[in-house]
Amino acid sequence: MNTKSHIHDVLIIGSGAAGMTTALKLPKSYSIAMLCKQATNEGSTYYAQGGVAAVLDEYDSIESHIDDTLDAGAGLCQEDVVRFTVENSTDVVNWLVELGVDFDTEIQPDGSKEFHLTKEGGHSHRRVIHAADATGREIASKLEQRFEQHENVEIFEHFVAVDLITTDRIGQSGNACIGAYVLNLKTQHVELFRAKHVVLATGGASKVYLYTSNPDTASGDGIAMAWRAGCRVANMEFNQFHPTCLYHPEARSFLISEALRGEGAYLKLPDGSRFMDKFDERGELAPRDIVARAIDHEMKRLGCDFIHLDISHKPAEFIKSHFPTIYQKCLSLGIDITQSPIPIVPAAHYTCGGIMTDTNGRTDIPHLYAVGESTYTGLHGANRMASNSLLECMVFATSAAANIQNTPATNSDWKIPDWDESQVTDSDEDVVISHNWEELRRFMWDYVGIVRTSKRLQRARRRVQLLNQEVAEYYSNYKISSDLIELRNLMTVADLIIRSAIQRKESRGLHYTLDFPDLNDDPQDTVLVPPRFG
Ligand code: FAD
Ligand code: SIN
Repeated sequence: MNTKSHIHDVLIIGSGAAGMTTALKLPKSYSIAMLCKQATNEGSTYYAQGGVAAVLDEYDSIESHIDDTLDAGAGLCQEDVVRFTVENSTDVVNWLVELGVDFDTEIQPDGSKEFHLTKEGGHSHRRVIHAADATGREIASKLEQRFEQHENVEIFEHFVAVDLITTDRIGQSGNACIGAYVLNLKTQHVELFRAKHVVLATGGASKVYLYTSNPDTASGDGIAMAWRAGCRVANMEFNQFHPTCLYHPEARSFLISEALRGEGAYLKLPDGSRFMDKFDERGELAPRDIVARAIDHEMKRLGCDFIHLDISHKPAEFIKSHFPTIYQKCLSLGIDITQSPIPIVPAAHYTCGGIMTDTNGRTDIPHLYAVGESTYTGLHGANRMASNSLLECMVFATSAAANIQNTPATNSDWKIPDWDESQVTDSDEDVVISHNWEELRRFMWDYVGIVRTSKRLQRARRRVQLLNQEVAEYYSNYKISSDLIELRNLMTVADLIIRSAIQRKESRGLHYTLDFPDLNDDPQDTVLVPPRFG
């Protein structure tokens, strides 16, 4: 059977803040395909709570936002990249407001209306603009609505990119990216998407851990595809654990925003005592790596499954109006947060490392761009500061869209082979996939989590090597499915995380190992080079 083929000027893989912004910022004269694995809005963007960090208050400054970001990043941020991002923060917010994003406002003493800015960990000022506690939902919905006016963008829901196609892969020189093979989940057939430029906007990889705040889409597909195609990846050891995810048997992946702590919530042990001051003078508002580690330490010390986040000392009306989503969600599970503390645990939340790009979103492969959480840009260093991620998505998507317009297109007439299914059969043992999914995510949680040791990392390395072999064998013998594609990518990402963690012989930011508890004097990024460059 011939592989069905599509052709566009630009192929964008991913429809979160990064993908949608890229599509909207490109001129309408470009034909664009935007792919997503599930519905358009199913990705981390939709679930973002706290908001977008931007310099909007007259007492705040660009220098202060830069300093806070550098401080949270624990010596590994690239200062020029931080400056580039922060200097573009007001433009991003203005663009969102133009698109109709309805950020919260408050009436000032003189009667004027200003944006309400909240605070989160690591920020020395109130600078997080938000739409109550559902900022991602508001942004994603307004961006999506805008496509009604962009007929040049064709949205393909339930299409899973399998692998990138480069000229190298088809035996030609130049190694330009020229498209992707994509599984259409409705027909279960692989289709060919040709394009002059390809943009990876596939989000993070936190699903590699058993407990995560992320939706199911976060399986690191873009990072794994870029790695296989020949891109370098960096700083994969820095996986951020959010300190406060809801602990409840019926609540899967529900975040309790850091903005609660920004508005005065306390972390408490089971006996009701506060403890954060023992760990950092900023208390509950220390950067995330410090707070997550402190909670982990206290939970292990006391042998408890969760601790508490308590905002019940604030007026009930304040809580309900600032945090309506969290209030309702907890209430539906029998927890009235205006009266009682919330049971919480840390969970994997954000992938600080990823595909290496410059400030135009360019990767190592010509005509292949990457934007958003799938990237390493140099902004976050060893730990991302709260609410800098949506900002990064939109700043870098804007510059990538501009760069695409200034980059001459590739030849689109390459003869690309059909997807070959002649050697594979239907799987007779799907249990291999479900078992390996479970095993991988559990050992990543147990051995490559908040606190690491060299022994645990070596154990994880041996296991991932074994599972990788099994999955590779399965991949070459059986027809692909969405689960198999994701599992193969998670294996690759797990391997990259473990190798990076083993290479770092110090404790810095989100990477904490009992065997090397101190900082090195000369901090370096961990850059992994794919085999084709080796
Ligand atoms: P996503 O929004 O995750 O989108 C990824 C897209 O790629 C999806 O459309 C998915 O279907 C698609 N995709 C993936 N793989 C494939 C494939 N193989 N083929 C086709 N499509 C594919 N950050 C902030 O700055 N402020 C916040 O308040 C905030 N709150 C958060 C709350 C939660 C619960 C979570 C999980 C994250 C939060 N973050 C926040 C982080 C932030 O939301 C994400 O980093 C950001 O939204 C990532 O955007 P993205 O466009 O890169 O990826
Ligand atoms: C939150 O609201 O706590 C999440 C913010 C972020 O991840 O930046």
